Amino acid sequence: MPFRASDPVQAMTPTPNASLADAAPWWRPARGDALRIRGGRPLVGSYPISGAKNAVLPLMVAALLTPHLVTLRNVPASLDVAVLSALLRRLGVDMNWSRATVGLSLTMCADRIRPGDVDADLVGRMRASVLLLGALLARCGEAVLPMPGGDAIGLRGIDFHLAGLRAMGAEIELVGGTIHARAPGGLRGAAIHLPQPSVGATENLLLAAVLARGTTTIGNAAREPEIADLVACLRAMGARIDGVGTHALTVHGGAALAGAVHAVMPDRIEIGTLACAAAITGGELTLRNARLDLLGAAAPALAAAGVALREVDGGLVASRAAMGLVGIDVTTGPYPEFATDLQSPVLALLAFAKGASAVTETIFEQRFRHVDELRKMGANIVVRGRTALVRGVPELRGAAVTGMDVRAAAALLIAALGAAGESVLDGLDHLDRGYDGMTEKLAACGAAIERSGGS
Ligand code: EPU
Repeated sequence: MPFRASDPVQAMTPTPNASLADAAPWWRPARGDALRIRGGRPLVGSYPISGAKNAVLPLMVAALLTPHLVTLRNVPASLDVAVLSALLRRLGVDMNWSRATVGLSLTMCADRIRPGDVDADLVGRMRASVLLLGALLARCGEAVLPMPGGDAIGLRGIDFHLAGLRAMGAEIELVGGTIHARAPGGLRGAAIHLPQPSVGATENLLLAAVLARGTTTIGNAAREPEIADLVACLRAMGARIDGVGTHALTVHGGAALAGAVHAVMPDRIEIGTLACAAAITGGELTLRNARLDLLGAAAPALAAAGVALREVDGGLVASRAAMGLVGIDVTTGPYPEFATDLQSPVLALLAFAKGASAVTETIFEQRFRHVDELRKMGANIVVRGRTALVRGVPELRGAAVTGMDVRAAAALLIAALGAAGESVLDGLDHLDRGYDGMTEKLAACGAAIERSGGS
């Protein structure tokens, strides 16, 4: 059953629900299925940035590559992490959780894997489950995986993943929506060139290449900081990988990998989103664990738009610059260009800014679904092809809105925090997928926000 935007978490079918509770005992289905937000209060205080959703998922999959213990610290308690835990658990991975001062600590042991036991319902909920393909093929020589799901933000093919794995000797067939992959003689190193720098394909091929015999080169590789985080963990496990941070990765594969302890990098998208929230509400947030260097082109873009970010010991202080919010032009692109995942929250920011902005989305073709929702709040935005044209307005008004993907939901939430009056935000499963305790953390900084039964 597909996971609809309107489904509360409790609506998952009984079997995966049971496995979520079993694999991620910390996971609590959200109370209520909507957020009531009374806007207009400045956010002030200390906001802890969690471990990155898009880093932790490939790091968890990396545990499949070794029979030894892999421990991850700073793991965000989000629904995507719970779903991937359930998937790994079904595959035979032992998952041991503990609460730490920051986030969760997870120790995984994959010494007895059952590669055929992949749950279609769980895979259908999360795009990152495609990463199981590379890791299972490399470790077990076979993988059967339903086509992965995820946010409906574009076509999101997996052709680069499959072509790269085929170049490494995998035989892959698609039968009735299921991927059947085998590498009877094991994977071997190959020279691979990606048609575009895909984050997921780079990660999948890295996971496969570290156990493949011989050397793999990945040309036109993605350079996102989450790739560097994965490489750091794989290196700690004993893998030999060169070229991190460049478009040309070289993996000297074949050696058995050991266990490792690795701390997940801070979530750069949560950093950017909360910086926008501080500026929209005219408050001041100390973003604990935040790092400016992770933002790439978003750092100067935010500064130009009137989001002040000051480095302090252990984080960043975010506020509205004295000049106020000002319209800017932004084009999304692969790192270090402006992150597509920050496009939605920045569009919310620019809805409040003086003057005109043009925001062009080049990565995902359906990533403007928050625009109609922002318009319900009084935003003046029109979409022309891949570009959203914004004319800032002095005030947005509260409205009933729906978040249709992870980042759209966060964007609408921060817009509502800056809007006059009350907003009701639906689609909270998306917020829960990507963020650890965002509503509680916001409430601790003065947001008037509560879960309720829906609009
Ligand atoms: N693409 C293909 N074929 C492929 C792979 C990618 O055509 O085989 C295309 C995609 O359709 C897209 C572009 O290449 O147009 C880039 O996609 P990429 O593979 O880089 O994205 P992804 O790995 O699916 C990850 C993040 C996304 C983030 C993008 C871009 C995870 C789990 N997801 O997706 O995060 O937007 O990289 O940075 O890491 C989010 O967190 O909300 C989110 C969508």
